[in-house]
Amino acid sequence: MLTDAQRRRFAADGFLLLPGLVDEDLLAAADAEVDALVERAPAPEGTVGPHFHFLPPGELPAADAALRRSGALAAADELVAPNHLEHAHDHIQVALNIPPFPHRPGAPHIDGHRPDEPVASFTLLAAVFLSDESTPDRGNLWVWPGSHRGHEQLFRERGVEALKPVSGQAILLDPPGWMGPGEPLLARRGDVLLAHYLLGHNIGGNTSPETRRILYYRLAVPGHAERWADTFLDALTEYPALRDVAPEEPFVPPPPQRPAQ
Ligand SMILES: [Fe+2]
Repeated sequence: MLTDAQRRRFAADGFLLLPGLVDEDLLAAADAEVDALVERAPAPEGTVGPHFHFLPPGELPAADAALRRSGALAAADELVAPNHLEHAHDHIQVALNIPPFPHRPGAPHIDGHRPDEPVASFTLLAAVFLSDESTPDRGNLWVWPGSHRGHEQLFRERGVEALKPVSGQAILLDPPGWMGPGEPLLARRGDVLLAHYLLGHNIGGNTSPETRRILYYRLAVPGHAERWADTFLDALTEYPALRDVAPEEPFVPPPPQRPAQ
């Protein structure tokens, strides 16, 4: 059961971290499933940085259980109530970040945008952390707080297809769409992330000794494919229960930080 403060934070920041939601037995089963997957389909020799596997939920039952039996899906459903969420693109993503990968992303993207392809949006991204990412440079996801509202503003001004030519990267527009400074998301094994689809995010670096593992679930309210444009112009279209707690003032991102003279 989410608190009002948590619902308010999701509405303002576009994401919410739920610490320790997934029990160790669910995590261990998901680990074993990923171990088998990585053994069956290892990354090519010499791979560093992000490396992904996309499989249907039916082929990753333990990963799917980590979403459903932990309460993560129920918590996500509370954000979209009275709507319910289901898998949007019939996959679960196993995302690895293989060291050494020194990298700091400068700007965010949103998923599902490619030139000359239909927009492939969804409602909410959920994630189950299998590794420790409680300090930076461990493969952490980077997030741009409030940028779901920044993207909403951008689509209202420039149209819902504005980010297709730049593959979802507002910073590449002319003039650039600035979403403020990003930050690495610090999380522990067993934590759950719930993020609005329009939240700008990116892949971080990994200079730790360990390959980082996370499970991503792209979830949608049924019928999303028919109303996606509405959800770009009004970020709460599929989150009616958050209207009461959403910020009233417009999103104004902090300006870029200039290096000291
Ligand atoms: Fe992404």
